[in-house]
Parts: sequence; structure tokens; C-alpha cells
Amino acid sequence: MPLPPPLLLLPLLLAAAAASDSGGAPPPTPTPWPEQFHAVIITNLTESGGRLQLIDLYYDWPRGRNLNLIRGQLSGDPTYDVEWTNGTSYIFDSTSCRTLRFPVGLLPPDWLVDGAVYLGRHAVDGFDCHVWTKVDFVWYYEDVVTHRPVRWNFFNGMQQHVMSFEVGGVLEDSEWQAPAHCFSDQGNTSNAGAATAADRVEDEDAKVDVMSSLLRKKRRPQ
Ligand SMILES: *[C@@H]1O[C@H](CO)[C@@H](O)[C@H](O)[C@H]1NC(C)=O
Ligand SMILES: *[C@@H]1O[C@H](CO)[C@@H](O)[C@H](O)[C@H]1NC(C)=O
Ligand SMILES: *[C@@H]1O[C@H](CO)[C@@H](O)[C@H](O)[C@H]1NC(C)=O
Repeated sequence: MPLPPPLLLLPLLLAAAAASDSGGAPPPTPTPWPEQFHAVIITNLTESGGRLQLIDLYYDWPRGRNLNLIRGQLSGDPTYDVEWTNGTSYIFDSTSCRTLRFPVGLLPPDWLVDGAVYLGRHAVDGFDCHVWTKVDFVWYYEDVVTHRPVRWNFFNGMQQHVMSFEVGGVLEDSEWQAPAHCFSDQGNTSNAGAATAADRVEDEDAKVDVMSSLLRKKRRPQ
């Protein structure tokens, strides 16, 4: 029986190699977040009609809280988005405040592990990454070598690039406290000053919060 010509054999060999790859090792799983970290993040909202933001993210699972300190491009007054595990979020700047409530709390450190679908390896932001998606809502890129998160994208076009990731980074307690003006007019805080910085970014922050909330809900039945 004559041997098949090498050029016909090559695709068969490649196919066999690919099959044994996927059949052998299970797909990689996302590395759970450390219980406390500080990340500096550049958020690109231009695809969804927004702007760029520079965010200091403090995730503090033991104390049940998560804080986004948001600086919009060329805007002075930063916005705080403080999310508590009891479901209350305060979004405020120096003059305005908005309170949001969600039925479920903070994303746990392993929020991505259950139900994430592995999509393979991709180069993103110049890093070789594993990619997972969860409920077609978030695409999460983790560095193959260091296991640090590099980027996550949301379905609406929001892209977050992780510029630094400091394991164990915490923010002092006083920084988490919502200011008095969050509590002075409890009944109608969301009406306070339609032109304030908090209101301008409120839609974008609310999107992030709604996404977190949905991710949490999706996770519940498992
Ligand atoms: C922001 O995202 C848009 C749309 O994907 C892209 O064209 C643009 O280059 C991005 N800008 C930055 C600074 O990453
Ligand atoms: C949740 O916790 C925060 C911070 O301790 C508090 O300000 C808020 O009132 C709490 N929300 C509820 C619904 O208990
Ligand atoms: C809260 O609502 C009352 C009555 O509707 C209104 O008079 C007041 O100006 C509102 N406060 C703020 C800060 O918007």
C-alpha cells in the first residue's frame, strides 16, 4: 500500500495532535481572586458612548466590601462606588450621592470558577492569556504565566485593563465611609443635582453594579 503524500498526511497529524490535546488535559480553570487586592484599572467606555476612566479598585472579601475610586478623563472630582456585601452600594462624589440596593452581595473570590467556559489562549494587551467567558456577559483574560488578571470585557463593550495588581492591598476604613450627604436626604438622593459628576457616571457605574448582580444571580442555582 503506497504511503500518502506528506502534504496530505500533515493535516491528519495536526488534527490528531489537537484531538489528543483536548481529550487529554482538562481545560485550565480561572485562578480565584485573592481575598484582598488593590488593582489600578483603565476602563474604556468609548464603545458604549462613554469615556476613559482610571479606577483604583479595592476588593476586600473578609470585610465584605468592594470600592471603585473612579477618575474620569480630564475631570476633577473623583467618584466613589462603594459596594457592601449586604447589597447596598453608595455612589458619591463631593456633592452628590446615589444609593443602590441589590438582593445579593459581593462577588466571592471564586466567582468565575463555576460555570466559566474556557475559550483558549489569546494575546491581549501584549500578554499571553487564558480566556474564559461567563454567561456571555464577561470575557476574562488571565496571564498564562503569572495568573494575574490582565483584562475583562463586558458584553456592552466596556473594556477594563488591569495596570497593576497588588495582592493584599487594602484601603483604610475611613475611606469606605459614605459621606453625610448620602444620608441627609435619604428619600430622594437620586434626584440630587442632575448635573453632578456622580450623576454623569451613575449610568456607567450602575451598569457595572447590575452586571455584578447578574453574575451573582446566575451563580446562585449551581
Ligand atoms: C477603546 O475602545 C475602542 C473600541 O474598541 C478602541 O477603538 C480604542 O482604541 C480604545 N481606546 C483605548 C485608549 O484603549
Ligand atoms: C449595608 O452596610 C452598609 C455599611 O455598613 C450600611 O451603610 C447599609 O445601611 C447596610 N444596608 C442595609 C440594607 O442594611
Ligand atoms: C427632595 O424632594 C423634595 C420634594 O419632592 C424636594 O423639595 C427636594 O428639593 C428634594 N431634594 C433634593 C436634594 O433633590
